[in-house]
Amino acid sequence: MARDRTQIAIIGAGPSGLLLAHLLDRAGVETLVLERHSRSYVEARIRAGVLEQGTVDLLAEIGLGERMGREGLPHKGFDLAFDGGRHRIDLFGLTGGKQVMVYGQTELTKDLGDARQRSGAPIVYEAADVSIHGADGQAPFLRYVETGKSQEVRCDFIAACDGAHGVGRRSMPAGEVRTFERVYPFGWLGILAEVPPCSHELIYARHRRGFALASMRSMSRSRYYLQCAIDEKLEDWPDERIWEELKIRLGPAAAAHMKVGPSIEKSIAPLRSFVAEPMGWGRLFLAGDAAHIVPPTGAKGLNLAVSDVRILSRAFIAYFKKGDRALIDRYSKDCLARVWKAVRFSWWMTQLMHRLGEEESFEARVQQAELSYLVGSHAAAQALAENYVGLPFTET
Ligand code: FAD
Ligand code: DHB
Repeated sequence: MARDRTQIAIIGAGPSGLLLAHLLDRAGVETLVLERHSRSYVEARIRAGVLEQGTVDLLAEIGLGERMGREGLPHKGFDLAFDGGRHRIDLFGLTGGKQVMVYGQTELTKDLGDARQRSGAPIVYEAADVSIHGADGQAPFLRYVETGKSQEVRCDFIAACDGAHGVGRRSMPAGEVRTFERVYPFGWLGILAEVPPCSHELIYARHRRGFALASMRSMSRSRYYLQCAIDEKLEDWPDERIWEELKIRLGPAAAAHMKVGPSIEKSIAPLRSFVAEPMGWGRLFLAGDAAHIVPPTGAKGLNLAVSDVRILSRAFIAYFKKGDRALIDRYSKDCLARVWKAVRFSWWMTQLMHRLGEEESFEARVQQAELSYLVGSHAAAQALAENYVGLPFTET
């Protein structure tokens, strides 16, 4: 297939790039995907694990729900642990029957990679030095290097789905973009281990020693996180120390059921909130982490990437099938309304659950009051639940 011309040139084969490609491919819009890393590298990156109801519904609708339906774990609630107690948030009951799905980003990326391969549509892994040209004119194009050879592809539009450190946002003139940022003074130390989870649902714990999260990837594979200092060194955290700390922070009931084992993966991620506005310039559009970052508390990052590309795919399809540019012009505005709600939620949940300073402080007392309010008030629990399962797609 000729690769010197396409309708949509997509940079990045993470979840947002691959899903956008799939949505467009299904509608008969031509795409070329350029990814800097190899397929195996992209698919091995351990990241998000919780899919909102709307994300799950979309994947099922477009024929990507089969393995997720078999291997994913539907969750109807999660626990909040604080002050020595555990309180269940009944997502299903509080949202009129909605739930989330535990299905790793690695698995979703594999399903999307397989779908791309089946479609036969072009994708270039290990595409080096991707650069964007003419995005402010009528004839944009990308340059890149494939197995040592320079290539050029002309296109109608460019979708930068290239994550937080991609080339897309950097190619927008500084004067055309406003950025908003909150950097949190702590990180998350994550561990993945081939052991059964300590509870059948997730536990988000606020503890005087710091936040902890018990999650999973399957009934035999656990994922745990600990709040840590931003400059923490992984070598200071042998597995035994992580397990001990998790037992303390998650509480005695979780500790009693916790199976420990060697880590398969261990990493530290910094936490920040970041939004770039607008999410496009000329014929270049940003989607997913390329446009916004949220702290992981509340599991919104991957789900936001999905809702961005859902909106972007509709806009491109309306343009190519009906000659209607209105949705393209509204893309940034339509996305940002939803983005800021997820930014607010993940910022709120981060502030609520993490150690912010001394336990005998104003902030800690407010956290305790808010947690007690959350588990004592139906209205407060409902607000948490409706955000956690994902706000309705149309309500932006
Ligand atoms: P990405 O997944 O970052 O994909 C971007 C792709 O573009 C990558 O494959 C990259 O290689 C490629 N690329 C970048 N630059 C170029 C270039 N110049 N040329 C070609 N290709 C390029 N979210 C949660 O909800 N829960 C979590 O627990 C969680 N944990 C996370 C942990 C880490 C360490 C990180 C970084 C993110 C985490 N997230 C989490 C966020 C979630 O993983 C992201 O929101 C999601 O990956 C966004 O998908 P994306 O496709 O927009 O970006
Ligand atoms: C996971 C990550 C999150 O940020 C979260 O809120 C819940 C689960 C996870 O990786 O399993």
